[in-house]
Amino acid sequence: NNGIEIPVVGFGTWQTPDGEVARESVKTALEVGYRHIDTAAAYGNEVSVGQGIKESGVNRHDIFLTTKLWNDSHGYEATKKAIDLSLQKLDTDYLDLYLIHWPNPVAVREHWAELNAESWQAMEEAVKAGKIRAIGISNFRKHHLDELLKTANIVPAVNQNYLNPSDLQPDVLSANKEHDILNEAYSPLGTGDLLRNELVAEIAAAHNHSIPQVLLRWSL
Ligand SMILES: NC(=O)c1ccc[n+]([C@@H]2O[C@H](COP(=O)([O-])OP(=O)(O)OC[C@H]3O[C@@H](n4cnc5c(N)ncnc54)[C@H](OP(=O)(O)O)[C@@H]3O)[C@@H](O)[C@H]2O)c1
Repeated sequence: NNGIEIPVVGFGTWQTPDGEVARESVKTALEVGYRHIDTAAAYGNEVSVGQGIKESGVNRHDIFLTTKLWNDSHGYEATKKAIDLSLQKLDTDYLDLYLIHWPNPVAVREHWAELNAESWQAMEEAVKAGKIRAIGISNFRKHHLDELLKTANIVPAVNQNYLNPSDLQPDVLSANKEHDILNEAYSPLGTGDLLRNELVAEIAAAHNHSIPQVLLRWSL
């Protein structure tokens, strides 16, 4: 909804250990053609993801890089610090996309809406300052989004959610559609669980494709 393009297939780095594994896998992903890398402060691997990007030799401007605000940094000042820390760890001047990772962390359950509004203000300021190109949300259900929109000046560009054939998220999808927010689907294989799903296995066999191929095609 802001004219910025995001490559449709991304390389996720959740559960990718910091150090050699994250560095080498990001580098290899870029070498084989991925141009969209998704990390998060909570994944603990931003330093190695940044190194993998540098070592790949691919121009930073040809890469779409996402990271996310963790649950311990909600609120205006904490978010400003978290953005700068992610930029520093990733060793980059700007982020392509920055997401509020979760709307309602347990530790701030009493005033989650107020803190999201504050975080969002800090994120909007970072957009104006040229530190972030696009801002969005993750795991936001309709009521979380509705609350945020009460004070937001920038409508979220993306809502990243668990979305695959086992969880169709109709309410989230229709709320996103209403505000022209892009659905970004994570866990296309259900973090591996859908590889054991009998119905998907039948579909894969009927079409002479592998189970992951069927699941990735569904997401596309
Ligand atoms: N915003 C959020 O809150 C959020 C939450 C979750 C994920 N995400 C993003 O989405 C990305 C993808 O999520 P995901 O890791 O859940 O994705 P996924 O693609 O649904 O699942 C990946 C998992 O499937 C397993 N797997 C893949 N191929 C397999 C095979 N042939 N046989 C058995 N297991 C197999 C992998 O195991 P191995 O590790 O053994 O390869 C891995 O644990 C993350 O990296 C992250 O960037 C975002």
